[in-house]
Amino acid sequence: MKIVYWSGTGNTEKMAQLIGKGITEGGKEAEVINVSDVNVNELLSEDILVLGCSAMGDEVLEESEFEPFVEEISTQISGKKVALFGSYGWGDGQWMRDFEERMIGYGCSIIGDPLIVQNEPDDNEQECIDFGKKIAQI
Ligand SMILES: Cc1cc2nc3c(=O)[nH]c(=O)nc-3n(C[C@H](O)[C@H](O)[C@H](O)COP(=O)(O)O)c2cc1C
Repeated sequence: MKIVYWSGTGNTEKMAQLIGKGITEGGKEAEVINVSDVNVNELLSEDILVLGCSAMGDEVLEESEFEPFVEEISTQISGKKVALFGSYGWGDGQWMRDFEERMIGYGCSIIGDPLIVQNEPDDNEQECIDFGKKIAQI
């Protein structure tokens, strides 16, 4: 499984690594990929997408790399199962509710509830690992 993320200060990246650990512990292969390195064609051959981005701007996805990536895949992901995650700071998670709604609008089904963590995932490591384990069971 491919986990594609954008992270400014490493918080969402840490989540991605922990989710990858959980997927591996759950018996599946996991590859953690920075969105700037993703091969979209390869990614689109997957049935399950695991996508993470922190809250940026004013409750939006990061605009120079992650947002264009979402736009690029948007017309090609109908029917896919998608797990969403990301770190936030002072907001209430609105960016992730919007991301989830948008992916549903593209025809995806969302695996569980998106996983959001305030700032560093240090106190939420197990939660991230468990999220990965759950994805591995799909
Ligand atoms: C330019 C900028 C914009 C941000 N906008 C928001 C926001 O709208 N809502 C929020 O909850 N946090 C916001 N944050 C806080 C980050 O989401 C938070 O620091 C997060 O842990 C960063 O994760 P990352 O290291 O994976 O990028 C913003 C941070 C920066 C630097």
